[in-house]
Amino acid sequence: NIGKSTNILWHDCPIGQPERQKLLGQKGCVIWITGLSGSGKSTVACALSRELHCRGHHTYVLDGDNLRHGLNRDLSFKAEDRTENIRRVGEVAKLFADAGTICIASLISPYRRDRDACRALVPDSRFIEVFMDLPLEICEARDPKGLYKLARTGKIKGFTGVDDPYESPVNSETKNDGPRWATAIHSHHMLKHRYLQ
Ligand code: PPS
Repeated sequence: NIGKSTNILWHDCPIGQPERQKLLGQKGCVIWITGLSGSGKSTVACALSRELHCRGHHTYVLDGDNLRHGLNRDLSFKAEDRTENIRRVGEVAKLFADAGTICIASLISPYRRDRDACRALVPDSRFIEVFMDLPLEICEARDPKGLYKLARTGKIKGFTGVDDPYESPVNSETKNDGPRWATAIHSHHMLKHRYLQ
């Protein structure tokens, strides 16, 4: 059992989610933004955070790129490391939501199973999946960091959408009658027009 957590017990704290919610005047939740590189995830995450903040809500953004500078700096982009990346961020997002924060996670999160595992960590109504539904061609034409170019010329291997898979959501809340603000950010362009000047 070396390397695994064994003989551990759960310790309850007298201040729980209801008390924290009351103090903050809001319910914590996870808004999970998934999509290809260059689809606008981080832009939407930050814009949404700013918008909600201005309306008096406590938010926090967990950005894939940023977290790979610290918490996840030991992880590569091979499939099992991406899975571990999403697992860790899902757990952190769950803690933020439990603390009462509107946690906006913005990661490629290419595997449906991994995203579903994160959804399973929080009560269903508190997980909102937002799919940045942009075709690869548009993301690639944008190429904000020049990474698609590097991938096409073989300088980056295993780049999502080029030579690594991306599994589109089939039932993300943005496609359904989800919460208003999740639906409102369905279109990146609309958001850009309304909130980002
Ligand atoms: S994942 O798939 O969810 O684990 O990825 P994530 O943690 O969100 O990190 C994505 C950012 O890493 C940069 N990058 C790559 N993306 C995809 N594939 C490969 N091989 C790769 N190498 C580096 C890229 O800048 C991603 O940022 P975004 O914001 O998505 O463009």
